[in-house]
Amino acid sequence: MCGIIGVIGERNATPILVEGLKRLEYRGYDSAGIAVITRDGSIGITRSKGKLVNLENRLAESPCTGLVGIGHTRWATHGPPTEKNAHPHQSRRCAVVHNGIIENYQELRRELTGQGVTFASDTDTEVIPYLIDRELDRGAEPAEAVRAAIRLLQGAYALGILIQGADLLIAVRRGSPLILGIGEGENFIASDATPLVPYTRRMVYLNDDDLAVLTRTNVRITDLRGHAVERAVKISQVSADLTDKWPYRHFMQKEIHEQPTALGETLKGLIRASDLSVDLHDLQGEVDFSQVKAVNIIACGTSYHAGMVGSYWIEQLARLPVSVNIASEFRYREPPSLPDALTVVISQSGETADTLAALRFCRAQGQKVLGIVNVPESTIAREADGVLHTQAGPEIGVASTKAFTTQLMVLACLSLALARAHGRLTREVERASVEELMRVPARLEQVLLQDGVLQRIAGRFMNARGFLFMGRGTCFPIALEGALKLKEISYIHAEGYAAGEMKHGPIALIDEQLPVVAVAPRDPLFDKVVSNLEEARARGGRLVVITSGGHGEEKLPFAADHVIAMPACGMFAAPILYVVPLQLLAYHIAVLKGTDVDQPRNLAKSVTVE
Ligand code: AGP
Repeated sequence: MCGIIGVIGERNATPILVEGLKRLEYRGYDSAGIAVITRDGSIGITRSKGKLVNLENRLAESPCTGLVGIGHTRWATHGPPTEKNAHPHQSRRCAVVHNGIIENYQELRRELTGQGVTFASDTDTEVIPYLIDRELDRGAEPAEAVRAAIRLLQGAYALGILIQGADLLIAVRRGSPLILGIGEGENFIASDATPLVPYTRRMVYLNDDDLAVLTRTNVRITDLRGHAVERAVKISQVSADLTDKWPYRHFMQKEIHEQPTALGETLKGLIRASDLSVDLHDLQGEVDFSQVKAVNIIACGTSYHAGMVGSYWIEQLARLPVSVNIASEFRYREPPSLPDALTVVISQSGETADTLAALRFCRAQGQKVLGIVNVPESTIAREADGVLHTQAGPEIGVASTKAFTTQLMVLACLSLALARAHGRLTREVERASVEELMRVPARLEQVLLQDGVLQRIAGRFMNARGFLFMGRGTCFPIALEGALKLKEISYIHAEGYAAGEMKHGPIALIDEQLPVVAVAPRDPLFDKVVSNLEEARARGGRLVVITSGGHGEEKLPFAADHVIAMPACGMFAAPILYVVPLQLLAYHIAVLKGTDVDQPRNLAKSVTVE
């Protein structure tokens, strides 16, 4: 949520800030702005509502140059996405960009208002430059003024700060991610490494309560008391290429079609093909699976759906009890400590605030935490005891697709590894399972050939008021995921349901207008799903059934409005393959409706606030 960039160097900061914001736009895109210290020493600010292109146009009309600057792309928390609420926020002598939430801002606002401050925005952030100003007025030097100001803040923040008359850049972190880039004669700050790798690969990851003062040639990091602290310089492996969506129309479309490759790459680090065995050689860190007595999966959104699928596999194969938790609920539930449980946190970005907080909570309780993460240098990847990386490559579309299926691939292999560590996996099952997983990329290529069919179905239902998705077993979370995809990019209301739960309420929604999408592989639960579909059909629902031939049954035992023909597959491949038609359906409906597929309204790719 919100992207921050800052630079101090010998060249014009503005293009560096704008290019950096382009690479951070996935973190939020409802407004953007930059501040630079201009040649006369004053702070010049340019801000604009809406996408970054509006800021670029504004800067083209009235250029703004300087050697020190900060920039911000916003995902609104406090105050609507207007120009006055766009960052940077400014007081007399100070400009600030902020990612996070200041929880006690109302109290601070009241206090400052009482001291004569008039606020120009509705944001929580705007108190910060005024608090710093107050300290500067009391005679504090810049770093001390910032330190004194942030002692008053409650909540989460990553801050980039400019102070008029001071040829430096200040960065502070608590809760929200912030890193430093160490260049030659120039230094940088940013929310992550992506905007910095064109200039430097030398990164310093700030810890909570670190305050960094950057000049062109020096970086000094201190704690809240002003004592110097050492932080290691790490060499970033993040790719410098700005990902290109060509030849696709949208990143989401490209990412859907990249899934066979992403799954193949992910699988390479998890198995040994030569003898068809599970071998998690990509596991970084130490986790002893044989000591695990229970598994506690924690994630948000699509990653949570992956965790739900994983819970079926782990329970079935490893016979370990599994709980699956929405991260934002988990910690506040005050769950009892489970020292023998393995916590598995799943996150594409590796920065999701609630998931990260849950990780810290579990580690503080003495539990081992295994991260399943797509962004290699993310906070979750750095803080977990062990990490299994999904090798999906950068996922730019806000709607998660290839990150989800690669998470499923990791979870499949994790369930096999846990089963083996507990002596519950026969060689025969291991071989057959690995073989099945190795066939997934090719089968997925086949599924992608259904693109045209899904596009036609999208045309038929694009004006539907709502959708119902249903499935059983591992395809129940796939139904939830199908509904989430549709909601987030096409803005059509959709519900995902366990097929057997329909008659307990949602069946009341069904009429001739309602498309009911069934995720129905020919698994042992198929006949039960068929009964649920019959119930829906009897009430006039428009049935879209995703299923396969197999087991000698070539045809559906009843009439459906549309059938998406899937290749036959086993228990691991089914949820991975069956989610893809749902991704394509959501994608095509969104395109037909003309929504902003890659940057849907109100969302952000990386959710770094609670
Ligand atoms: C998925 O399409 C969503 N945009 C969202 O639910 C996402 O999966 C969720 O915010 C979790 O993100 P993470 O995987 O980066 O932690």
